[in-house]
Amino acid sequence: MSLHGITKGTKLEQMVQMMAQAEANGTMMYYALARLANEQGLTDAAKTFIEAANQEAVHAGFYAVLNGKYPKDFWDLVRGLQKAEEAGEKSVRAFADKVRAEGFAEAADEMEIFAKQEGHHGVILKELMEKLKPEALNVDGKQIYVCSCCGFEYAGDLDAEPDSFVCPVCGMPRNVFKLKQ
Ligand SMILES: [Fe+2]
Ligand SMILES: [Fe+2]
Repeated sequence: MSLHGITKGTKLEQMVQMMAQAEANGTMMYYALARLANEQGLTDAAKTFIEAANQEAVHAGFYAVLNGKYPKDFWDLVRGLQKAEEAGEKSVRAFADKVRAEGFAEAADEMEIFAKQEGHHGVILKELMEKLKPEALNVDGKQIYVCSCCGFEYAGDLDAEPDSFVCPVCGMPRNVFKLKQ
């Protein structure tokens, strides 16, 4: 049985949402600690932090599923996400350039790698959809809205979404979405 959305609309929803956020923050914190530990040559500590980080990430995803944060039928979301990943390569590279211009070449070099990885996520998501759900790539007759912050694409009637709608990737409100030409 799917655990999707079982706590949505129940008295557990708020607590589950807090847990999801805490676990997501924990993931970020542990990876930051791992990085700092590696910088100090503490490789065993770094490994421990990474192990914990990966588990926290799993926990965050679990709570998100309980609350039905993402649709159970997720291919439309994946299609939009694929666009954000594709766009991410360019925007991360542009940001790396700014970081470099400020004199932080070492950080910028690493961000260039991240940019390529975002592009790669875009490629593998596209391949996945072509293989498993090609019909999800067909958006004929649907209106497409693009998040001007992250490039996520929404296909359908954005006005039908509740006022609380936010970009599932970057969290920006609905009014940052622009109709795709
Ligand atoms: Fe990515
Ligand atoms: Fe976004």
